Amino acid sequence: MILAGAQSAPAEDYVWPLPVWMPPPPVPADNPMSAAKVDLGRHLFYDARLSRDGTVACVSCHVQERAFTDGRETAVGIEGITGAKNAPGLANAGYFPVLTWANPHMDSLEFQSLIPMFGENPEEMGSAGQDDRIFALLAADPYYATAFPEAFPDRPAPDLFTVTRALAAFERSMISVNSAYDRYKYWGETDALSPSAKRGEQLFFDHRFECYHCHQGAMFTDNLQTSRSSQPEIGFHNTGLYDPYPAAVPGLIEITRRAEDAGRFRTPSLRNVAVTAPYMHDGSVPDLRGVMAHYATAGRAPGHPMKDGMIAGFTATEAEIDDIIAFLESLTDEDFLSDPRLSDPWPDGHPANTNRIMP
Ligand code: HEC
Ligand code: HEC
Repeated sequence: MILAGAQSAPAEDYVWPLPVWMPPPPVPADNPMSAAKVDLGRHLFYDARLSRDGTVACVSCHVQERAFTDGRETAVGIEGITGAKNAPGLANAGYFPVLTWANPHMDSLEFQSLIPMFGENPEEMGSAGQDDRIFALLAADPYYATAFPEAFPDRPAPDLFTVTRALAAFERSMISVNSAYDRYKYWGETDALSPSAKRGEQLFFDHRFECYHCHQGAMFTDNLQTSRSSQPEIGFHNTGLYDPYPAAVPGLIEITRRAEDAGRFRTPSLRNVAVTAPYMHDGSVPDLRGVMAHYATAGRAPGHPMKDGMIAGFTATEAEIDDIIAFLESLTDEDFLSDPRLSDPWPDGHPANTNRIMP
């Protein structure tokens, strides 16, 4: 059966920017990739007209040079409204079976984009109840007048279905697997890493530090799903950040209501981590040295009853800490941070960006 509106442009013309060793992310059957759709999604991502007053776009909190984070402790949305959580990076978002810091049900990029647009707790783009007006505004733009029909031949107008699918297709194209560490590990460039980063790699994968237990695999997280996975890996952990947890950020327990989920958050990927400060779900750790200090002391709340057993603290020399940080810095993918395929497509002074707030 073919559902009305479920048709998209031919997918064959989209080429994943991927090396042979990395399979593509999974793609939902009702949203195949196409070059036209990814380009449309890119324009929407940078378009502040998706917000109530034309000031907030996705890029207002997800900036390419910062691996699609914003440099703030917690995100600031429409009318300066400040949320309780740090904006996570979007590199490789298509590979994460669950999205956001602590919601086990948030498993789709298509659905996720509704939250910043229409969510009210906190308001980010503030567009609840404004959809018809906003979609009419988009339909009147000459670029969209051709881009929507090209991306969605059978459903050519801006609406919830097409906008969220185009955004998700663009996000799936945000692939970042070309760091110095990748060149060293997968391409055999033995001098791509400094001696310090090589020592740091050994320490990162050493039992004394335990980092790799949670930050494991191709994306340095235990949350991974590729088009070849038989089932997704999903990992939430309590790293001893608080005891008790502030009401604004209780962790997984907020959704599951299970006591053992207090203070548990999704393990973030460490790709590009050197450019995504400040760190943790609430941005409360300013730099990588602070992250190392946090783990060395077994967290600020070393006695939290739900803290993961791997967060046990360690003793390390300054030189060893420097080495682990050098390793983390080698996970930065400079090409990704400046890839023109992911950059702002709108000319300066276009209605999409004239009033757009940037962090
Ligand atoms: C006001 C700032 C802000 C704006 C605007 C914003 N985001 Fe976010 N984004 C966040 C925050 C904060 C989170 C984490 C939310 C949470 O954990 O509950 C997030 C999470 C995400 C995630 C999950 C990433 C992951 O790995 O878990 C995706 C995907 C995302 N945003 C995409 C978008 C898209 C697409 C738009 C535009 C439609 C957008 N965001 C607009 C702040 C923002
Ligand atoms: C028990 C699992 C676990 C272990 C072990 C672990 N981490 Fe984490 N890590 C997490 C989780 C979960 C978070 C997010 C916590 C939060 O936001 O409250 C995190 C956050 C981070 C962040 C911040 C990332 C960001 O985007 O904000 C860095 C950097 C990091 N860890 C590095 C390390 C290093 C280095 C080690 C080893 C010393 C380590 N981790 C050990 C689970 C773990």
